Amino acid sequence: MSKKVFLITGGSSGIGLAAGEALANEGHHVISMSRSMEKVERAIKEQPELNGKLDFITADVSKREDIEKVHRYIDEKFGVLYGIVNSAGVIAVGSLETVGIEDWQQMMDVNLTGPFMLVKTMLPLLRKANGASIVNISSIAGLRPGTSIAYSVSKAGLDMLTRFLAGDLGPYNIRVNSVNPGLVRTNIHFDNNIVQTKEQYEEMVEKARLRHPLRRIGRTDDIASIIRFLMSDESSWISGAIIPVDGGVTQENNFIPRKD
Ligand SMILES: NC(=O)c1ccc[n+]([C@@H]2O[C@H](COP(=O)([O-])OP(=O)(O)OC[C@H]3O[C@@H](n4cnc5c(N)ncnc54)[C@H](OP(=O)(O)O)[C@@H]3O)[C@@H](O)[C@H]2O)c1
Repeated sequence: MSKKVFLITGGSSGIGLAAGEALANEGHHVISMSRSMEKVERAIKEQPELNGKLDFITADVSKREDIEKVHRYIDEKFGVLYGIVNSAGVIAVGSLETVGIEDWQQMMDVNLTGPFMLVKTMLPLLRKANGASIVNISSIAGLRPGTSIAYSVSKAGLDMLTRFLAGDLGPYNIRVNSVNPGLVRTNIHFDNNIVQTKEQYEEMVEKARLRHPLRRIGRTDDIASIIRFLMSDESSWISGAIIPVDGGVTQENNFIPRKD
């Protein structure tokens, strides 16, 4: 692949960070966007080799003025954008009776309206690429109800955004796909207060692991590798796909005896 400019939201942690690293390792310029520098500093402390590898920028995907700031930056510096990975995401656990309206709104704003506003704003730059690719990081929670009503609904909405935009933007040679991970080891559960201790986290992981046919949960690299493929020309005829990357967990079958 020749050197391209990509934008990754949620690029300072977890899946977005791993995707940014994978694309930067191929020689691309990766603009890595998140709300603050705290997680960038955490990432560089854990992986000093990331320093200077990614173009970190602070912006909140749910704020229109922040998106416009990022647009101005890319327009002035590069004048073109070859792809977006929408990985910024937030989650708060809750059913209809327990979810707060503010939490519901935040999940919609960040997980769904953010990607919509971002693509809408960046469209002129994406069109100039003549072959851009957008990857929305959804979730298996968008394919079936999970632990959070708002998160599931936001991700199901994101999958429909993928399908709608694939039809809408295909004539501009822009591809749009969803990647729907199962449980992946990142900081999302700590940073969103779903677990407070390592013990709680490992207990959650162990329960989840046993439900996965492949008997392991995901690693960020499992997701980064498909993102890398979808951003490349190797996938130039794939658009509108909703792709579970989940160790087979969405095909879990309770009707056949377990083999272990
Ligand atoms: N890990 C899993 O098990 C899993 C499973 C299925 C789907 N997913 C999805 O995968 C995506 C990445 O998750 P992850 O596990 O990598 O999470 P993570 O480690 O918590 O990373 C989330 C990233 O999003 C950024 N972010 C959050 N709100 C933002 C906003 N309003 N504007 C810009 N950036 C924002 C965070 O930085 P700041 O806080 O500094 O902004 C951080 O860089 C999410 O969409 C998540 O829903 C994750």
